[in-house]
Amino acid sequence: MIRNIQTIIPGVATSDGAGVKLRRSLGGQQQVRLDPFLMLDEFSSNDPNDYVAGFPAHPHRGFETVTYMLEGHMLHEDHLGNQGHLKTGGVQWMTAGRGIIHSEMPQQVSGAMRGFQLWINLPAQEKMKTPGYQDIQAEDIPITSLQNGGSVKVIAGSYENQGQRVSGPIQGITTTPLFLDVHLPPHTSFEHSIAKELNAFIYAYEGDLEIGSPLKAAPKQSAIVLGDGDCLQVKSGSTGAQFIVLAALPLHEPIVQYGPFVMNTRAEIEQAIDDYQNNRFVTA
Ligand code: CO
Repeated sequence: MIRNIQTIIPGVATSDGAGVKLRRSLGGQQQVRLDPFLMLDEFSSNDPNDYVAGFPAHPHRGFETVTYMLEGHMLHEDHLGNQGHLKTGGVQWMTAGRGIIHSEMPQQVSGAMRGFQLWINLPAQEKMKTPGYQDIQAEDIPITSLQNGGSVKVIAGSYENQGQRVSGPIQGITTTPLFLDVHLPPHTSFEHSIAKELNAFIYAYEGDLEIGSPLKAAPKQSAIVLGDGDCLQVKSGSTGAQFIVLAALPLHEPIVQYGPFVMNTRAEIEQAIDDYQNNRFVTA
């Protein structure tokens, strides 16, 4: 059964950090999420005024943050002493767990800065796990070529291309996330099976795209939430298409969010604020 478009969540212009301009689709309002995905931001600008201020030190607790750089260079530093360069084509996968305080600052004063930040929830029993951090450089992320001239970059989960399974560097996460970046030439098709248990969405950032059966136009710069089914079917228009595909197992747990803290209960949020204010993220 082919998944059709269920809901379209337009990316709305906003800013975060110290004034970085971005478009937020998922998470633009607290109830607009797709379990276990909490938020999706796209940042994209050629104007340094839109990004140079970066994201100075700030905390997270209870979920994972994933940054995928399409273009540009940022430096990540955190209170655990990790330092990592996020560069064109690379991914940073950070498990905030019980708490991490980090900054993400641009290492450029001109040129394009483009990419995504995605927040993925953690199950209740993992929200207080030890924080972790993985820096994955572009050359360590497989890109497989399609017969139609397109390509699929496999960041998390796997993709089967002409009988060969291509697996991404991110594995072993409870919600089994799939994260693909697909590029299609004009007027070509793409199919991929996505198990019916998973919640799935697409975000097109270039070109134009139709989804489902019958095909329906999918606007760019929007989170396109897919309905029930076990197969994704898309077709690019006259300018080709570039889009990310995300899917993961829903948690079906209560969510209480206060800014960068995402827990299950109000008491746990109060604890998070108290721990942060009393420097217990650093010493715990
Ligand atoms: Co952050």
